[in-house]
Amino acid sequence: MKVNITSMRPEHVDEILSIERVSFPLPWNRETFLFEILLNELGVYVVALSGELAVGYGGMWLVADEGHITNIAVNPAIRRQGVGQRILQELIRRAVENGLNRMTLEVRPSNMAARKLYHKFGFVEKGLRKRYYQDNNEDAIIMWLEHLQGWPSAGKISGWERDK
Ligand SMILES: CC(C)(COP(=O)(O)OP(=O)(O)OC[C@H]1O[C@@H](n2cnc3c(N)ncnc32)[C@H](O)[C@@H]1OP(=O)(O)O)[C@@H](O)C(=O)NCCC(=O)NCCS
Repeated sequence: MKVNITSMRPEHVDEILSIERVSFPLPWNRETFLFEILLNELGVYVVALSGELAVGYGGMWLVADEGHITNIAVNPAIRRQGVGQRILQELIRRAVENGLNRMTLEVRPSNMAARKLYHKFGFVEKGLRKRYYQDNNEDAIIMWLEHLQGWPSAGKISGWERDK
């Protein structure tokens, strides 16, 4: 699906909230998104636009030389059309641009779609946070993408080159 990826702005938040609420058991609220994009100097947030409509988004915190992915979600009506991949690509690109060396995130073991997306981009499962998710006490798998500064040369990773 053709989307444009751009920085998240306040006018995107209504659409983002409707995606957030159907995507996560513990969704962020409006204030959190506004804080993240307007006040948090460590936050980097992007949105996927189809025309004017926000159909997906993702974000990370820049912590020392690490990018900590906070969220990534796509409108359920248009999943499996390459949008999540475009968002992740852009987060990685911005991490490289910011001089970061590695990226990390937490994911539910039951979330096979997300795990496969991250695997496709070279993230590796390296640890577990026990009972991390408060809604059901599910553990979190900790994933890492290392050696980010070599990433453009890691164009072999299929997701990097593909653009649906
Ligand atoms: C995870 C998520 C963002 C993926 O977005 P998407 O736009 O559907 O993903 P894409 O179409 O770009 O898929 C890219 C790759 O991810 C993997 N993938 C995505 N959805 C998948 C699914 N349902 N089953 C298996 N693999 C899947 C595949 O490897 C896919 O590559 P392929 O198409 O070559 O097989 C989306 O499912 C989502 O919003 N989920 C709810 C929120 C969430 O769980 N976020 C992650 C929190 S850690």
